[in-house]
Amino acid sequence: MRAIQIAELEGPQAAKLVEIDEPAADAGLVVVDVHAAGVAFPDALQSRGLYQYKPEMPYTPGAEVAGVVRSAPSDAHVQPGDRVVGLTMLCGAMAEVVALQPERVFTLPDALSFEAGAGVLFNDLTVQFALRTRGRLADGETVLVHGAAGGIGTSTLRIAPALGAARTIAVVSTEEKGEVARAAGATDVVLAEGFKDAVKELTGGRGVDIVLDPVGGDRFTDSLRSLAPGGRLLVVGFTGGEIPTVKVNRLLLNNVDTVGVGWGAWTMTHPGYLQEQWAELEPLLASGAVPAPDPVVYPLERAGEAIASLEDRSARGKVVVAIR
Ligand SMILES: NC(=O)c1ccc[n+]([C@@H]2O[C@H](COP(=O)([O-])OP(=O)(O)OC[C@H]3O[C@@H](n4cnc5c(N)ncnc54)[C@H](OP(=O)(O)O)[C@@H]3O)[C@@H](O)[C@H]2O)c1
Repeated sequence: MRAIQIAELEGPQAAKLVEIDEPAADAGLVVVDVHAAGVAFPDALQSRGLYQYKPEMPYTPGAEVAGVVRSAPSDAHVQPGDRVVGLTMLCGAMAEVVALQPERVFTLPDALSFEAGAGVLFNDLTVQFALRTRGRLADGETVLVHGAAGGIGTSTLRIAPALGAARTIAVVSTEEKGEVARAAGATDVVLAEGFKDAVKELTGGRGVDIVLDPVGGDRFTDSLRSLAPGGRLLVVGFTGGEIPTVKVNRLLLNNVDTVGVGWGAWTMTHPGYLQEQWAELEPLLASGAVPAPDPVVYPLERAGEAIASLEDRSARGKVVVAIR
């Protein structure tokens, strides 16, 4: 089969299109003919050996797929011919065929294309976990999201209203990225530079209930200052590079929480959680209550460029690689 392979940890440009054997169709696994694979920030980190999960070399990047079931155990919840999405967690997706644990395979609503489907699992399930399980989002609350034109950012803007948020504030680095955030549904858009004062003005001095932060770095303290009393700052990632520190007096002074969000680790310790998540998200995607992502699609032979676009900050919204 055709697949992308990384043999040297030299960054996304080391990604090469190669011919390799199809994965063994062990009994108990669902074999999927892959139509599209999602790209996420860990793919960029992994290509330089900088991610906490280190695959055996050489490896095929990509954590999520959309495609058609080729074979499945007879007692599985999906059958040959079904349109599905699936998680490889955390590599192997950028290939024509994958073999997945049944609990990591989900039925794809007819309303979503394979390209859109390849863009929903990794980010949308992380955001749903962040807002619902860790962030305790309540109806009518305001959610601010950093890196709002990125994968996690656009996912937050699409999902938060369906989970009850009354208002979303998108923080972006450029006006052009602001347009991407608006298209993904942002109520308000502010630039990262000076965002604290802009948020204060937008909220009449009250602040926001939730900050969802995939960026980290030097904006962290201003994020804490932007929370309303009882607010929660959700720590999702560190694309800005630096891991911030928390002066805990700030938590005490304003009665706010800093909350860790590690979705992958949670799914490992909570059997059945992924299927529970999909049971909530699937009907929202099928009905359009959560709009489908509108990804930027690269052909398979340009997968390295697709991964590089996240590393060099040029990506707009979700990025997907078309496999067939
Ligand atoms: N905790 C979890 O369970 C979990 C699950 C999935 C993903 N994540 C993490 O979430 C983060 C975001 O992932 P993603 O797929 O949304 O990435 P993405 O699509 O590349 O978006 C990241 C955004 O970060 C901002 N950014 C700020 N400084 C940056 C820099 N130096 N380089 C690159 N981007 C920078 C950019 O927005 P501006 O240019 O507008 O600032 C960019 O749009 C990653 O750290 C990823 O590992 C965590």
